[in-house]
Amino acid sequence: MNIDILLGLQWGDEGKGKIVDAISPDYDIIARFQGGPNAGHSLEFNNVKHVLHLIPSGIFHPEKLNIIGNGVVIDPAVFKKEIEHLGPSVDELIKRLIISARANLILPGHRILDAAYEYTKGNSKIGSTLKGIGPAYTDKVARNGLRAGEILRKDFIDLYNVHMKNHLSILKNYDFRFDIKEYEEGWFEGIEMMKKFKIINTEYLVNELTGKGKKLLAEGAQGTMLDVDFGSYPFVTSSNTISAGACTGLGISPKRIGEVFGIFKAYCTRVGSGPFPTELNDQTGTMLRDLGHEFGSTTGRPRRCGWLDLPALKYAIMINGVTQLFITKSDVMSGFPLIKVCTSYLSEGKECLEIPFNNSPVEPVYKEMPGWKENICGIREYRKLPETLKKYIKFIEEKTGVPVTMVSVGPDREETIFRR
Ligand code: GDP
Ligand code: IMO
Ligand code: MG
Repeated sequence: MNIDILLGLQWGDEGKGKIVDAISPDYDIIARFQGGPNAGHSLEFNNVKHVLHLIPSGIFHPEKLNIIGNGVVIDPAVFKKEIEHLGPSVDELIKRLIISARANLILPGHRILDAAYEYTKGNSKIGSTLKGIGPAYTDKVARNGLRAGEILRKDFIDLYNVHMKNHLSILKNYDFRFDIKEYEEGWFEGIEMMKKFKIINTEYLVNELTGKGKKLLAEGAQGTMLDVDFGSYPFVTSSNTISAGACTGLGISPKRIGEVFGIFKAYCTRVGSGPFPTELNDQTGTMLRDLGHEFGSTTGRPRRCGWLDLPALKYAIMINGVTQLFITKSDVMSGFPLIKVCTSYLSEGKECLEIPFNNSPVEPVYKEMPGWKENICGIREYRKLPETLKKYIKFIEEKTGVPVTMVSVGPDREETIFRR
C-alpha cells in the first residue's frame, strides 16, 4: 500500500497545505484530486508564507513530482498567476508539475455564472468563493465540459467559442451585469502558460509509478462537511472531498489506499453559509478568529469560529475510513482557561446521534475541560506538551477510536510534532 490520502475532516482550512508540505519528504508524488481555485492551502518555511490554490503542496520540494489530477477543475488564469508567484522558475516547475488531460477547465463564463447564481439567491447564498467551481463541475457532469487535453487542439478557439456562447445564452436569463472580455484576456494567457506543462493521461503515470513502489500522497481540498454528497447540502462545494474522491479524481483503485490521514483543528471554523452547531457568536469566537488569524486564504473573508464538534468529527472519520488523526492549531487555544467540546446533539430536546441530512437545527451538548496556559509553539516532543492538552487529545482519541499521530503547533513546517 503506497498510496496515502490526507484530507480535511471539518469545513476546510484545517491546515492541509502545511501538513502536506511537512510530510512531502516521505513521498515521491503529491497529487490534488478534486476542487480547484476555491482551495487556499497555506504553508510556511524560512519565514515566508505561500498560499496555493491549484498547485499541490509538495511543489516546494524540488525532487518531488506534483500532479493536478483529473478530478480537479482548473482556471488557466489562476494557474498562470500562481506559477509566476511561486518562486522557482517556469523551467524548473515544468519538471515538477504535470496536469491531467482529463481535468476540466473553468471558463470565464463559469465564473460569471457562479456570481449570477449567488446574486439571484438573495438571502440563501451558499457563500461560494466565486471561482466558478459549481458551474464548471455542472458542465462536467452534464457532459458539456472543456478539458485540459483539448487546449493542444488547433481548433481550440472554436471549441471555446461554442462553450462561451452557451454560457452567454444562459446568462441572458439573469438580471446580472458582466463583461466577459474582462476575464478572457487573462484566461487565454493562462492557456499559453498551461501549454508549457506536460498535459497527459496522468492515471497511467500514477499507476505505473506506484506499481513500481513509488509513494503517492493524495492531497484533499475543502473538507468532509463540504462534500457534495455528505456535507450540509446545499451549503457545500461541488466535488467529493472525501477519500473516495481520491480514487475517482486520480484513477486509482480503492484497494491501493493505505493510510487515510484526517486533519482537524483543535476547534472548528467555517467560511460561507450553512449549519455550524458549535459556532460561537461571542467574545470567545472573536478571540479564536483573532488569535488563529481565521480569515480565508482565498477570499480574505472572516471565518466563523466555534468549539470542536465530535459528532461531526466521528461522522467524517466514518465516511473517510480515517486511520490516523492529525490535530492542528492547538497553540491558538493556549491561555483559554476552559475549553468546551461538543459530545452529542439535541434535536427538539431529544438526543440526536446522526448528522441530519436536511440541516435541521441541533443543539450541542458540551463537556468542559481545563485549557492549557503555556505557549506551545516551540515544543517538538509530544511528552513535553501540557498535560491538559494531552488529556484533550486523549479524550478525542477515546471518543473517536482513532489515534492522534501528529500535533501541529504553528504554521511553519518545523512546528510539527510526530508521535510515530
Ligand atoms: P488548508 O486550506 O487546510 O490548507 O488551511 P489554510 O491554509 O486555508 O488555513 C490554515 C491556516 O492556519 C493557515 O494560515 C496556516 O498557515 C495556519 N496553520 C496551519 N497549522 C497551524 C497550526 O498548527 N498553528 C497555527 N497557529 N497556525 C496553523
Ligand atoms: P480549502 O481547500 C474553506 C466553501 C465556500 C462556500 C462553499 C462553496 O482551502 O480548505 P465553492 O467556491 O466551492 O462553490 O464554495 O464551500 N469553501 C471552502 N471553505 N476552505 C476551502 O478550501 C473552501 N472551498 C470552498 O466558502 O461556503
Ligand atoms: Mg484553505
